[in-house]
Amino acid sequence: MRNGVTLRQCLLGTCMLLSGLSIFVFVGNFVSSVESDENKYEDMFLGFEEGKCKSCHPAIWREWEKSMHAQAWVDKIYQDAAKLIPDREKSCDPCHAPEPILVTGIGKMPKLRNDQRNSGVSCLVCHLDKDGAMHGPQASAETNFHVNVTNSIYNDPTKLCATCHGQPKVPEHDQVSSFLESRFAEEKKSCATCHMPIVNRLQSTASYESIKGRKHTWRGSRSVAQLKNAASLNIEFAGKKVSVVIKNRAGHLLPGGTLRVIVLEVTHLAPDGTQLKKKQVLISEKTENRLLPDEKRTYTFDVDVGQTLKAQLKYQLTPETPESEWVLMEEVIELVP
Ligand code: HEC
Ligand code: HEC
Ligand code: HEC
Ligand code: HEC
Ligand code: HEC
Repeated sequence: MRNGVTLRQCLLGTCMLLSGLSIFVFVGNFVSSVESDENKYEDMFLGFEEGKCKSCHPAIWREWEKSMHAQAWVDKIYQDAAKLIPDREKSCDPCHAPEPILVTGIGKMPKLRNDQRNSGVSCLVCHLDKDGAMHGPQASAETNFHVNVTNSIYNDPTKLCATCHGQPKVPEHDQVSSFLESRFAEEKKSCATCHMPIVNRLQSTASYESIKGRKHTWRGSRSVAQLKNAASLNIEFAGKKVSVVIKNRAGHLLPGGTLRVIVLEVTHLAPDGTQLKKKQVLISEKTENRLLPDEKRTYTFDVDVGQTLKAQLKYQLTPETPESEWVLMEEVIELVP
């Protein structure tokens, strides 16, 4: 707790809290029943820090805690990259530790928070408004801690996600533009369809019953299951040629982020299993050849009758990831007819 003052002490009287750059005067409920909106807003940051969100929303907290949103600031890959950028506070940090986006504005470039940067893209970033209320899909129970506001953006959250995943000035982190041009958008899917699967659970410890919500896990490139769903691989023989066809099955460009590298590896094997030849083709933004949603791309290789052809699609988290840690996304093995 900041300055060694506990919230309990605050609730028993009046206390001063120094937080980052600003000073707030906190008047607890025992003293006055009228709190200014600014205090309610600040209470939510205190509540977050004191574990209050966690204690009333334990299931959602456990999901979020392991997500890359929770790591967005402490993530070593991020910090190592941001270190190299002289004006990182302006061009990098604002999305990796942002002020609540309902305050800065949905779709607007986020602003860097002064406080609690270690919590990255926290609950407050996506849910808190300037009056200290929590926006979300329809709630079933009342809470004495925060006000609930039903806001339809949570039922179809692509615009919410686009605040960070679709800034026009930051194309390297844009999954939204290619999604909006895809059949998934036409079919009224959203980013939540694949990244926040539906789950039945208690929204809070005060909820009356388990209801449908959406998992706060945001599995992406660290999930082998997601990567196995991301593309299909087929091989077609025609005489002394083989066509290896990759089809993107993700809801956006593949790979979704520009740091990743996907490798198509084609190995020719003799009848006794000895490796005759191996070729690797890179698919990534760096070479400007990412796949659009549903795009099929064909690579052609020469083959000899009697050989066995093995085609594999492998995923690299960063260009420095050692080959032993590449993830196998797809594999096809066939005898050349
Ligand atoms: C508009 C918001 C925004 C800005 C500005 C931004 N990022 Fe990001 N960053 C994201 C999002 C969203 C992701 C996750 C999706 C992706 O990888 O495209 C991400 C992911 C990353 C990752 C991958 C981390 C990992 O472990 O997978 C790195 C590295 C990164 N950002 C570095 C930077 C650097 C360096 C800058 C400044 C030059 C920057 N970012 C500016 C939003 C932003
Ligand atoms: C005293 C318990 C309590 C605390 C502390 C608490 N909440 Fe809640 N919260 C609730 C209840 C109860 C609901 C309504 C749940 C339901 O409908 O089942 C709720 C609903 C929500 C919703 C959905 C709102 C909507 O309209 O759909 C969000 C978002 C939320 N809380 C975020 C937070 C965050 C972030 C914190 C920490 C700053 C927090 N809560 C702390 C009890 C609490
Ligand atoms: C990246 C943005 C984001 C973050 C971070 C986030 N949420 Fe959510 N939250 C959403 C979206 C989108 C929904 C709507 C999902 C749906 O349709 O049910 C939601 C729904 C909810 C709900 C309603 C129940 C449900 O599961 O749908 C509660 C309660 C809630 N969030 C609390 C929290 C808490 C507590 C945290 C932090 C531990 C948190 N959220 C972090 C985006 C976020
Ligand atoms: C306030 C900015 C912000 C918002 C809003 C936001 N994200 Fe993110 N998201 C990030 C950042 C930053 C990262 C990268 C964290 C890292 O790896 O360092 C990220 C990471 C992710 C990842 C994991 C990427 C990986 O490496 O696997 C997924 C998936 C994701 N976000 C989906 C969503 C979805 C879906 C929504 C909307 C419900 C959303 N995000 C809303 C900033 C945001
Ligand atoms: C049809 C399912 C589907 C939809 C819809 C979808 N995604 Fe993905 N997403 C995937 C798959 C599969 C991957 C893993 C492969 C990859 O990296 O692209 C992924 C990866 C990601 C990543 C990690 C990229 C990286 O390089 O680390 C982010 C961030 C992300 N998605 C954000 C979003 C956002 C934002 C939306 C909404 C515009 C969205 N996704 C819609 C399936 C989907």
